[in-house]
Amino acid sequence: MDIQVKGDLMEKLVSLCKRRGFVFQSSEIYGGFNGFWDYGPYGIALKKVVEQLWWNEMVEKRNNVVGLDSSIICHPKVWKASGHVDRFADIMCDCKDCKTRHRVDQMPDPSVCTNCGSKNLTEPREFNLMMKTYVGPVFDEDHKAYLRAESCQPIFLDFNLIRIATRQQLPFGIAQVGKAFRNEITPRMFTFRSREFTQMEMEFFCSEEDAMQWYEFWRMERYNFYKNCLGFADEEIQFAPHDKLAHYAKAAVDVEYKFPFGWGELEGIHHRSQWDLSRHQEFSDEDMTYLDQATGKRFTPTVVETSVGLDRMILAILCHAYREDKAPTQKEGMDEDIRVVLGFPARIAPVQVAVLPLSKKLNEKAAELQDKLRHFYRTEFDVTGNIGKRYRRQDEIGTPYCVTVDFDTENDNAVTVRERDTMEQERVSIDNLKAYLDNKIYGW
Ligand code: GAP
Repeated sequence: MDIQVKGDLMEKLVSLCKRRGFVFQSSEIYGGFNGFWDYGPYGIALKKVVEQLWWNEMVEKRNNVVGLDSSIICHPKVWKASGHVDRFADIMCDCKDCKTRHRVDQMPDPSVCTNCGSKNLTEPREFNLMMKTYVGPVFDEDHKAYLRAESCQPIFLDFNLIRIATRQQLPFGIAQVGKAFRNEITPRMFTFRSREFTQMEMEFFCSEEDAMQWYEFWRMERYNFYKNCLGFADEEIQFAPHDKLAHYAKAAVDVEYKFPFGWGELEGIHHRSQWDLSRHQEFSDEDMTYLDQATGKRFTPTVVETSVGLDRMILAILCHAYREDKAPTQKEGMDEDIRVVLGFPARIAPVQVAVLPLSKKLNEKAAELQDKLRHFYRTEFDVTGNIGKRYRRQDEIGTPYCVTVDFDTENDNAVTVRERDTMEQERVSIDNLKAYLDNKIYGW
């Protein structure tokens, strides 16, 4: 039975992520680098699966959404046209006493320093969040370029090329997964606000008349993704419409997740009007209009966007999965102790099946079994420590099924399958093992 997690859940999660190799600070041996994170073996496994799940839901399952993988650095004019060079800024102020810099919109009282309480603050000023670099041999203004601040802009640049290549007619979408960079002044809450992160974005091109209907459609599609694909409960997610819209937007709503530190934006669904295509048309002189064959009308498509940070999604999945319960222990003088579990849905667990030989003498037989299973599932071979400790370790990395090869396996051609959530064990014939696991993991 689950118990109330005692202490700070975020602290526990950050510590587990480091200890078990999910996520840790970048450049840790140099003291870390604020706002940058590395994903260890289980973190990258989870990230790849979740990215693929999103891609499958948004692209592969649909005939009217196609993919793109663009370069991170684009022509500098792109960011002038998109408005990022002039407007993509946070309003900041500095405390003259303790020298801390604050985002004004995050200060409970913008006239008091949240660090030292001083009222001796500078006037609020704009700080642009674009990360800059130089392209070519000369480091001057003419060679300045930007790392993209959102992955979607190249989708607008390539709109005509993709439309013609794929013979798509409106309405249709273009999706991309890729890195984005923002010089966030206050990176915080683990990976929640980072300076380098991965976005999964889909821009859906349609007529202005149909745009609100598509906006509603995608709003619900994305909500259902969190419920059906990730198993989030209704109490964990909510819609938060934007009070203040970007100057070009007609409607915008966030899907928020109830993180341990409070409700936080997970994904944005935005009605971006014709802003992006018309701006790129203006700055590039390229015709971005679309001729509707059925009506003979030419117009600039309207865009409805779904945009989520993969890192934030992973953080929400980790928060959702973390739990503690009481479980039998072999520790001296104790019948039970607290068990930490990452209860990932079996479909997305970084390791779906761990193969555990009960004794080193059974390593060969168990390795043969793993070689068969690895064609169908993400597997791990774990020989270190007693079986109880190995189960606990697999619980902590969220492995839903442990398959133990023991001395009876030779005689009955069967293994013991232990389920993470119930801790129940079942003897399963090796001949039926794939059918058994397919049913458990995928419901086939
Ligand atoms: N193209 C629209 C766009 O970029 P956004 O609201 O700025 O909109 C979309 O970002 C999503 O990207 C957010 O909902 C969040 O999941 C993620 N994101 C934004 N800034 C982030 C950051 N600094 N660290 C991690 N994820 C971030």
